[in-house]
Amino acid sequence: MPLLWIVQAQLDRAHATIKADNPRGAMAFPKSQGGGGWVPLAAMHKIAERLGCSHMDVYEVATFFTMYNREKRGRFHIMLCATTPCMVCGAYDIMHTIEKHLGIKAGETTADGEFTLTEVECLGACVNAPMVQVNDMFFENLTTESTVQLLDNLKAGNPVKIGPQNGLTNSEGPMGRTSLIEPPLGPQCRDLGA
Ligand code: FES
Repeated sequence: MPLLWIVQAQLDRAHATIKADNPRGAMAFPKSQGGGGWVPLAAMHKIAERLGCSHMDVYEVATFFTMYNREKRGRFHIMLCATTPCMVCGAYDIMHTIEKHLGIKAGETTADGEFTLTEVECLGACVNAPMVQVNDMFFENLTTESTVQLLDNLKAGNPVKIGPQNGLTNSEGPMGRTSLIEPPLGPQCRDLGA
């Protein structure tokens, strides 16, 4: 899995660098991690050779996980989460907005090679649903309006806000932070000092 990911990151160089207008987001994602690249068959064969395993062993892993792209993606690879929490918060409204705005369906790339849209399973940002990952960046708490604005800014090369798009920070719900706001009570599960 790490070798497949390294290949994908190496083949991510053609993809767009997303400019963050919030320093925290920029710090969290200093450079490409591989979300927009892809893994060609030749690379899978090389990995099998390196590991001393069969081609099929590598194919099985590369085809099981959607995190590995087996075809070239657009400069901006939009991975839209449509798992239950995102779905009930409007993921398909976001998907239809993207499809309409870009003139493609999920699974397709725009004719100019700028955008690919892929439906994926949970990306772990459920509390800030609905959300998309673009290359290596998360964009959360999306509305149809903020989605269109995001697409236009990405295409224009304008800085974009990474993370929640509704003014919240981190993984807060719509009411802001309501739990885990006091210092943790002891005893801790282990004494780190010791
Ligand atoms: S359900 Fe969408 S991020 Fe978890």
